[in-house]
Amino acid sequence: MYNLLKGKRGIIFGALDENSIAWKTAERVHEEGGVFVLSNAPASIRMGSIDELAQKTGSQVISADATSVADLENLVDKAVELLGGKIDFVLHSIGMSVNVRKGNHYTNQNYDYTEKGWNVSAVSFHKVMQVLYKKDAMNEWGSIVALSYMAAQRVFPDYNDMADNKAYLESIARSFGYFFGRDKKVRVNTISQSPTATKAGQAVKGFGGFIAFSEKMSPLGNATALDCANYTVSMFSDLTKMVTLQNLLHDGGFSNMGVSQEVMEMFE
Ligand SMILES: NC(=O)c1ccc[n+]([C@@H]2O[C@H](COP(=O)([O-])OP(=O)(O)OC[C@H]3O[C@@H](n4cnc5c(N)ncnc54)[C@H](O)[C@@H]3O)[C@@H](O)[C@H]2O)c1
Repeated sequence: MYNLLKGKRGIIFGALDENSIAWKTAERVHEEGGVFVLSNAPASIRMGSIDELAQKTGSQVISADATSVADLENLVDKAVELLGGKIDFVLHSIGMSVNVRKGNHYTNQNYDYTEKGWNVSAVSFHKVMQVLYKKDAMNEWGSIVALSYMAAQRVFPDYNDMADNKAYLESIARSFGYFFGRDKKVRVNTISQSPTATKAGQAVKGFGGFIAFSEKMSPLGNATALDCANYTVSMFSDLTKMVTLQNLLHDGGFSNMGVSQEVMEMFE
């Protein structure tokens, strides 16, 4: 461990269970000396095991539905108070599609579900940043990261309306990142992660085939949740101070592949 985050304070959204990318990130941030508040939606706190993570990392859990500005305002106020100062890092690790959950095909969406999923998966990122920005709750050179997926740029049929939500999320990172950078010297990026076996990941239809295909296409194989946590730690550290407005591809090389030898062999 390198004490990369010593003296830094943060908020980590989205740790549901030990498979969650946010869970692994919280563990790694803790190991690197960062302190933080954990947050999740009330139902996920009841269903999941976030209290175990809080104990392990000496953190407090503050419940917030990330679509509720009032909840987010309360969270940010409490986090600054509990941690004893402004925030240096934020992880938005939140995603959910009701259409995916209900098995609605992309061409047969229920638009109430579409709107709900968009609000949770994309607009919540704007809300988190707007609350932090208005309250002037971020320290200069702070770092905000949200997690995305390659379906924002390329077609993965069963990723459904989450593809559109991720495209919107990545756009928010650029648009808000401009103002956060210019006005507060805070950087904002998305990390586009390989398919990962988590609750949200496994909700995608045909996930088994999806993750195996990606593994065979990527020269380094799929990046794991722990790999993603390590990358996020580097993005929270002072070593990446001038990186902002980026969608950072963390996928073992998948995104630049046309086809791999291993995939070709399946068709020969
Ligand atoms: N698993 C993958 O294959 C993969 C790949 C690329 C990107 N991602 C992204 O990584 C992020 C984390 O997902 P994960 O794979 O760790 O799965 P996960 O299911 O462990 O995490 C998703 C989290 O979103 C939270 N959430 C849902 N609705 C919420 C709300 N209204 N308010 C606050 N929190 C809410 C859930 O409680 C849960 O903790 C998501 O943005 C996901 O899209 C996942």
